[in-house]
Amino acid sequence: MTRTVFVNGEYLPETEAKVSIFDRGFLMADGVYEVTSVLGGKLIDFDGHAKRLERSLNELDMQKPAEFDDLLEIHRKLVELNGIEEGMIYLQITRGAPDDRDFVFPDPETTRPTLVLFTQNKPGLAANPVAERGIKVISVEDIRWGRRDIKTVQLLYPSMGKMMAKKAGCDDAWMVEDGYVTEGTSNNAYIVKDGKIITRGLSNDILHGITRAAVLRFAQEAQMEVVERAYTIEEAQAADEAFVTSASTFVMPVVEIDGAAVGGGQVGPVAKRLREIYLEESLKTAI
Ligand code: PDD
Repeated sequence: MTRTVFVNGEYLPETEAKVSIFDRGFLMADGVYEVTSVLGGKLIDFDGHAKRLERSLNELDMQKPAEFDDLLEIHRKLVELNGIEEGMIYLQITRGAPDDRDFVFPDPETTRPTLVLFTQNKPGLAANPVAERGIKVISVEDIRWGRRDIKTVQLLYPSMGKMMAKKAGCDDAWMVEDGYVTEGTSNNAYIVKDGKIITRGLSNDILHGITRAAVLRFAQEAQMEVVERAYTIEEAQAADEAFVTSASTFVMPVVEIDGAAVGGGQVGPVAKRLREIYLEESLKTAI
């Protein structure tokens, strides 16, 4: 089925959607994005994603192509037009397409940002069988730039990390900098030890996950202890449990790190419970 996508004010069949070859997203990775999940035909944590988008744009001195209400309407319309019950909406904003390639930012008066949105239909996203068995990760060196708190479309290294994992017969990679885990290629990383949920604190070293914020809040509301600090791969391998969070995987257990089984290679009770709580609670506020 041909998707209906949104490009700069127009709803179009995906086959007719076009962006200039001079678009700075294409030439310079000069763009930001958001991924919002859809469950039961509704948007999960749209408010959080919209706020982070605004922050990403501000940090890069990029214009906002549409107001919050307009973005919400576009998201909802795409869900409806594409009949999405479970899946994702991907939004990308770039600094636009000037007349020619130039390192210098174009004049925002004459070059408007590019706004693109498309859906991904993923029936069974919430009842994902992978969450029952967990995923295997490898560690790779984190050689990304220093502003990982901004959700830019510079996704080459995370893609390479996933490919390294695939080559090693695993599902994903955890990135390590100065001996400590930063995050997964496209998710935030956690371990559980003696009932404590441990995850790296917020800084420019990691993306401030919207799912992370919600999961930590739900964990605290459920009287679970949360500790925000860095940890090593060795500590993670010796933990009782490990898991990752993101808008597309929610809470996903990790059962193996660099070939070492975590928690006996079985999905642990904390990750399992957090996934249940997250799906239950976030559906209540879905819009
Ligand atoms: N990735 N860290 C990184 C590097 C990410 O790319 C993501 C999200 C996260 C989790 O953030 P959130 O909970 O807001 O989804 C953490 C998205 C899903 C992606 O690129 O597909």
